[in-house]
Amino acid sequence: MSIISNEEEKLASMKEMMDNIAHQWRQPLSQINSIVSVLDNRLYELNIDDEIINEKLLEIEKLTKYMSDTIDDFKGYFDEDDTKKEFVINDVIEDVVSVIGSSLKKDAIELRVSTDGCYTLYGYPNELKQIIIVLVNNAKDVLLKRNVHQAKIEISLKEDLESYVIEVCDNGGGMTRTVMQKIFEPYFTTKHKSQGTGLGLYMSRKIIQERFCGSLSVRNIYNGVLFSITLPKGGING
Ligand SMILES: Nc1ncnc2c1ncn2[C@@H]1O[C@H](COP(=O)(O)OP(=O)(O)OP(=O)(O)O)[C@@H](O)[C@H]1O
Ligand SMILES: [Mg+2]
Repeated sequence: MSIISNEEEKLASMKEMMDNIAHQWRQPLSQINSIVSVLDNRLYELNIDDEIINEKLLEIEKLTKYMSDTIDDFKGYFDEDDTKKEFVINDVIEDVVSVIGSSLKKDAIELRVSTDGCYTLYGYPNELKQIIIVLVNNAKDVLLKRNVHQAKIEISLKEDLESYVIEVCDNGGGMTRTVMQKIFEPYFTTKHKSQGTGLGLYMSRKIIQERFCGSLSVRNIYNGVLFSITLPKGGING
């Protein structure tokens, strides 16, 4: 079996696994949420207002929301509707901003976008959008965890000779060499297991390589990290 078909097979079985998990988890997740609201009501009826109970219930809600968001993210990677088409890269970036802009604002993280032109590409816009969201969410997690003052995320788009380049950078303090060597490995995460699967960057690189014939690279910059997505103008696979 060739390496390519082996890779394709792995991607297909991952999609199947994702569909199964999504299917099986949605129901219990929404049940957990209704249990929480039953408890909420019960406490209200009994006139109990306890700080710790309230806090813990809120935590359960947050965790279940995180889990269902993760399911949506992964399913988004394999969106059946995402057919190959001509799209404007700038629109994809605008989409990302409209999806996560307000949550960043809420967390006092500044999001800047800069482009040096308007560029079209032939490929899979939804997959590209998911990948930029993975990068921005990773930056957001680091900025919040490290409690960075004047936290900032910047997305930029520019044209190179043979490709378009999307960069996502932050001022979150960067990563050690040991972490950097591992971030594209499946299941590598520095987050608590309830908060990170460690699949985000692994999947993102895979999709950029296989679907866009491009590359995803990373380097530390003076006060953070810079991820760079290179999308060749001509070479779109699939
Ligand atoms: N902008 C960043 N600054 C510092 N470290 C980062 C940054 N982006 C990613 N990382 C590191 O790379 C690791 C792997 O990222 P990846 O997106 O693959 O998984 P995750 O974010 O840990 O989990 P998931 O994406 O499933 O929630 C992270 O746990 C974090 O340690
Ligand atoms: Mg991630």
